[in-house]
Amino acid sequence: MCGIQSAVIVFCFVFVLLFPVGKTETKDVVEALVDFMEKLGPGSIQNTPNWGWNISSDPCTSHWFGVKCDTTNQTVKNIVLEQISLSGTVDFESVCKETSLLLLSLKFNNLTGSLPQEISNCKRLRLLYLNGNHFSGDLPDSLPDLPNLLRIDISNNELSGKLPDMSRNTGLLTFLAQNNHLTGQLPNFNYDQLESFDVSNNDFTGRIPDDTGRFGAKSFAGNPQLCGKELSNACQAKKKKKNLRDIVIYSGFAVLALVILVLTAIVFFKKRENLEAAKIGSGSAMQKGVESKEDGGVSSESKAGKSRSEFSITSAENGGVSASLVVLSSPVEAVNGLRFEDLLKAQAELIARGKHGSLYKVFPDCGVPLVVKRIKNWEIPRDEFKKRMERIDQVKHPKVLPVVAYYCSKQEKLLVYEFQQNGSLFKLLHESQDGHIFDWGSRLNIACNTAQALAFMHTELKDDQIPHGNLKSSNILLTKDMDSCMSEYGLMMVDNGSQNSNAFNVDVYAFGVVLLELLTGKPVQSNGLDLAKWVNSVVKEEWTGEVFDKALVVEGASEERMVGLLHIALKCVNGSPDLRPGMDQVATMIVCLKEEDERSMASSEI
Ligand SMILES: *[C@@H]1O[C@H](CO)[C@@H](O)[C@H](O)[C@H]1NC(C)=O
Ligand SMILES: *[C@@H]1O[C@H](CO)[C@@H](O)[C@H](O)[C@H]1NC(C)=O
Ligand SMILES: *[C@@H]1O[C@H](CO)[C@@H](O)[C@H](O)[C@H]1NC(C)=O
Repeated sequence: MCGIQSAVIVFCFVFVLLFPVGKTETKDVVEALVDFMEKLGPGSIQNTPNWGWNISSDPCTSHWFGVKCDTTNQTVKNIVLEQISLSGTVDFESVCKETSLLLLSLKFNNLTGSLPQEISNCKRLRLLYLNGNHFSGDLPDSLPDLPNLLRIDISNNELSGKLPDMSRNTGLLTFLAQNNHLTGQLPNFNYDQLESFDVSNNDFTGRIPDDTGRFGAKSFAGNPQLCGKELSNACQAKKKKKNLRDIVIYSGFAVLALVILVLTAIVFFKKRENLEAAKIGSGSAMQKGVESKEDGGVSSESKAGKSRSEFSITSAENGGVSASLVVLSSPVEAVNGLRFEDLLKAQAELIARGKHGSLYKVFPDCGVPLVVKRIKNWEIPRDEFKKRMERIDQVKHPKVLPVVAYYCSKQEKLLVYEFQQNGSLFKLLHESQDGHIFDWGSRLNIACNTAQALAFMHTELKDDQIPHGNLKSSNILLTKDMDSCMSEYGLMMVDNGSQNSNAFNVDVYAFGVVLLELLTGKPVQSNGLDLAKWVNSVVKEEWTGEVFDKALVVEGASEERMVGLLHIALKCVNGSPDLRPGMDQVATMIVCLKEEDERSMASSEI
C-alpha cells in the first residue's frame, strides 16, 4: 500500500517536472484582470461553468471565459466579452496591466462611464471594440497614444466632446464613431489608408475635406452643422476681399508669429549646441567602390554642432555661380525659387561625413529644413550628371524621396532634399526608442513599401542603367506620418569593376540585407555579408526561430510569415547575383505576404 502511494506521489512529482505549465501570468496581472472583471458587473453570467476570472487560477492555463492566449508565451492576447449584459464600467487601468493585450472587445453590453486616459497604457492594443454600450463623456486625449491601433469602434454610445487628432495612429484602418454626440471639427484622417470610416449622426461642425477618398456622404450624414462638397450642405465660399481691419489684424499676427519663430529658433539652436557630438554609426555599403564609411541618411541627426565655415568652403570654391543650382519642381512651395546663395547663407549643421562626401542639415530662410548631400570626386561629366538627375526626377514614386535641387561643379556635386524629421530605419532599429515598439506590422509595411518603390524605379530606369547603388537602412527614411521613403536613389556611379547588368542585382542584395535587419533587429557590418552568413548558418541548423528579433517574438508576430519574409530575404542575398530574383518578383512576394498577414489579423477579430 505504502509502496503504491509513494509511487503515485513520485509519479505526480515527475509528471509536474516533465510537463511544466509554461510561463503563466504574474499574480499582479491576474489580480488586475479580476478587478477589471468585477467592475464590468458580470452579474449572473459568472455562474457559467469554467468561468474563471478568479485569483486562484491562471487566465491561460485555466482557459478563462472570453480569454485567448498567445500559445508560445501563455500571455493574454484577446479578451472578448460581447453581448453578455455586462452593466458596470471599464477599468482600463487594470486591464492595461496586461501589456500583451492585442484585442479588447466589449461590444453590445450595457457598460457605462467614460473612457479614461489610462486607455493608452494598452500599448500593444490593435483592435478595440466598445460599440453598442452607454459610454458617455469626452474621449481621452491619450487615444492617439495607442501606436499599434488598427481598428477602433466606439459607435452607438453616448460619447460627447471633441475627437482627438488621430493622425498619429498611422496604422489605423477602421474608425467607427457613428451615433454618438461628438462635437467640434473633424480632425485630419488619412482617408486613403482607412478601410472603413463613419462619423454619421453626431454633432460635428465645420467643413469636411474635399477629398475623403472612398467615403461619401453616408459616412458624414446626420451632422447638421457639417458642410462639404460631398454633402447636401455645401460650405459657404470664403470671403475673398479682406477689409483693411482684417489686414491689420492679420499682419499683426504675422509679426507675432515671426517673433515667436525667431525666439523658438534661438532656443532650439542654444539647445542644439549643448548636445554632445555623437558617433557616426557603423553604416555599410553593398559593393566595392561605394562609400564604405559613411552612414546617416538624409535625416540622421547624430552629429550636432554647426559647421557653417565648413559648408562655406563650397562658396569660396564656387563663388558667384548661383545659376548652377538647378531647382527641380518641388512639392515644397518654399523651395521653389531657392538660390545657391540661400543655401550658403543658411545655417548648416554637419550630420555625417564619409569617404565620398558629407551630409548637412541646412536651415534656409524659407523655413523648410533641407538636407544637402555633398559628394566629392565623383568623376562624371556635368552633362551626364544633369541628365541623370533629370531622368531620376521624371520617375516619381511616392515612396522615393525626390531631389528638390542639385548643383554641379567639377569638384563636387550637391544634392538637396527635404529634411525628414523622424529619422531613418537604421535609427529606428538600432537606437533605443524609449518605449516605442517597432512592431511586425510596421516592419512588414516598410519592407513592402521599399520593395514596391525599388521595383518601380528599376523598371522605369532599366534602360538608363540607373540603380539605387547604395541602399541601406540609413537611406530608408521616415516621413512625418511615419511612412517610409527611400532616399539617395542613383547617387552612386556603379564602378567600372562591376558590370552594369549586375548593378540592379546589387540593389536586390542590399534590399535583402535590409529585410534581414528588419527580421533580426541586428545591425550590419562588412557589407551585410556577416548578417547573411549568420542567418544562413542558423537556418541550416534548423534553428530558424532563433534568428528573429526578440521584440517580434514577444509581440506574437506570426512565425509563419516571419519565416516567409526570411526566405525572401535569403533569395535576395544569394551569393550568385544571377540567381537573385528581380525586384518586381520580390515586391510581388512581399505584397502577398502582407495581404496574408492582414487577412489573419482580420480573422482574429472575431
Ligand atoms: C477559479 O476558476 C477555475 C477555472 O474556471 C475553477 O476551476 C475554480 O474552481 C475557480 N476557483 C474559485 C475559488 O472560484
Ligand atoms: C441592457 O439593460 C436593459 C435593462 O436595463 C436590458 O433590457 C437589455 O437587454 C440590456 N442590453 C444588453 C445588450 O444586455
Ligand atoms: C511574453 O513573455 C515576455 C517575457 O516573458 C513578456 O515580456 C511578454 O509581454 C509576453 N507576451 C507576449 C504576447 O509577447
